[in-house]
Amino acid sequence: MIRSAEPADTGAVVELAVTAGLFGPEEALFVTAMMAGYFGGAAEEGHRCLVDDADGLRAVAYRQPKPAADRVWDLTMIAVRPGHQGRGIGTALLRHVEEELRGDGQRLLLVDTSGTPPYDRARTFYAGCGYAEEARVRDYWADGDDLVVFRKALT
Ligand SMILES: CC(C)(COP(=O)(O)OP(=O)(O)OC[C@H]1O[C@@H](n2cnc3c(N)ncnc32)[C@H](O)[C@@H]1OP(=O)(O)O)[C@@H](O)C(=O)NCCC(=O)NCCS
Repeated sequence: MIRSAEPADTGAVVELAVTAGLFGPEEALFVTAMMAGYFGGAAEEGHRCLVDDADGLRAVAYRQPKPAADRVWDLTMIAVRPGHQGRGIGTALLRHVEEELRGDGQRLLLVDTSGTPPYDRARTFYAGCGYAEEARVRDYWADGDDLVVFRKALT
């Protein structure tokens, strides 16, 4: 079941993001701070965190508006628990994110990822969900690790 994240989900969201390899253990504080900000006011500013908890918390997605752009959104995080990956859960969650935005008249959804081999499957996932590689910033994350921006028009 896809639903809005609640404060009690924070620990599980952080654990899921780290377990899925989205963030290293040393970056867990970043996710903790993001969730604290979410429940501390960002949700009222339009940020939205969705979880799929059909069988325990098995997926999470977080989106936020791009400042100073007309109805453009950033998919800040999407992760599916290992063991549940490759079964359509990520696709269904991303579709849910898109449908909410589309229903609200929003225009674009962007997602940042990496150009390195460990993210080959993530890039294939976005392409399969209808996203096109729109931009690349060489050596952005680190030397030899490009930022790859995928884009999907919602209208
Ligand atoms: C990327 C991710 C969100 C996709 O969710 P998912 O539920 O595994 O993907 P779906 O089952 O809906 O879609 C499957 C497609 O995604 C791709 N894919 C990406 N990662 C995959 C994985 N670990 N296992 C299986 N398929 C994966 C494949 O192309 C697959 O297509 P195929 O079945 O035709 O081979 C999920 O695998 C994940 O959390 N990965 C680790 C964290 C991550 O990389 N997040 C994105 C960072 S930018």
